[in-house]
Amino acid sequence: MIIFATSDKGGTGRSVTSCNVAYRRALQGSNVCYLDFDFGSPTAGAIFGVEAAGQGTSSGSGLHSYLAGNVAEAEQLDVWTGSGLGGRWSKPLGAGRLTLLPGDFGGGEFPVDDAMVDRCCELFLSLDEEFELTLVDLSSGRSYATELVLRATADPAIAEKTARWLVFHRWTSQHIRAASSLVHGPQGILDTGTGCGHERRELEDGIRFVRTAVLEQGSAQLEGLRPEQEVWLQAINTDLQKLAGKLRLGTSMMLGSIPLDPVLQWREQIIVEDDISNTRIANAETGKAFEQLAERLTDDGMWEGL
Ligand SMILES: Nc1ncnc2c1ncn2[C@@H]1O[C@H](COP(=O)(O)OP(=O)(O)OP(=O)(O)O)[C@@H](O)[C@H]1O
Ligand SMILES: [Mg+2]
Repeated sequence: MIIFATSDKGGTGRSVTSCNVAYRRALQGSNVCYLDFDFGSPTAGAIFGVEAAGQGTSSGSGLHSYLAGNVAEAEQLDVWTGSGLGGRWSKPLGAGRLTLLPGDFGGGEFPVDDAMVDRCCELFLSLDEEFELTLVDLSSGRSYATELVLRATADPAIAEKTARWLVFHRWTSQHIRAASSLVHGPQGILDTGTGCGHERRELEDGIRFVRTAVLEQGSAQLEGLRPEQEVWLQAINTDLQKLAGKLRLGTSMMLGSIPLDPVLQWREQIIVEDDISNTRIANAETGKAFEQLAERLTDDGMWEGL
């Protein structure tokens, strides 16, 4: 299965959440690869702790070079051995592969051409054979990366494969509006996808939303609030729920919600078991939310909201 991770705004938590989900899914035993399609700023290596690709790779065979046709194969880095995070990262027994395909250091955004679409389609087909889950982190907004993958997945050669979309957004009015517009608005995913040959209904069925950095009602972080703040927060939350429902990203369209975790405010990386149960710097609920989202990606019942 191929999963596209997108968001309208930048800084939503798309990459950090996606990397953590890829990691959790590998822990659950699946072979997972992660493609850094954030062409203007390919820093997924930093989240995985793979220093060699912290700002993209300098090998000359990152995704930019592959898509441009400069190299026949895109570089694949094994995260379990390539991560500089030391012992915390040893591959546990039963875990699947966790592979990063980085962008190129210094590579920027680029317009899409037909040859690039073909190469992208080929790459997805071969990775889908090799990995149970191919997670593609796209540049935010109405980007070239989004156009590229919509064109590639419209190719009849790939039509048999399952592709799903996760749209990440924070739990604020601007983010809710922006995420809805990215999907349903003019030149959004559905408009662009239809223009590329996708069937609108089918494409829409493959899109779900993920709320990030959410201050959950009743969470420990809200315990110190004054009563006035608590009442106000509840009212705001109700308003946001109404707005989300109206703009077609209510709870039935939501695949997951990740709580705000202080550790992710300062450390944009993977939360490992040691962070939760040994050093206790991260919250168990956050790990659980990543784990659940990792499971739900391929669970048809959860996807349909059953
Ligand atoms: N659940 C969370 N709780 C607290 N902070 C979070 C959470 N998820 C992500 N963050 C933080 O939010 C910031 C933005 O996250 P991230 O880089 O993943 O966003 P992005 O949408 O990929 O941004 P960009 O558009 O720049 O690629 C990071 O500092 C990250 O660590
Ligand atoms: Mg990112």
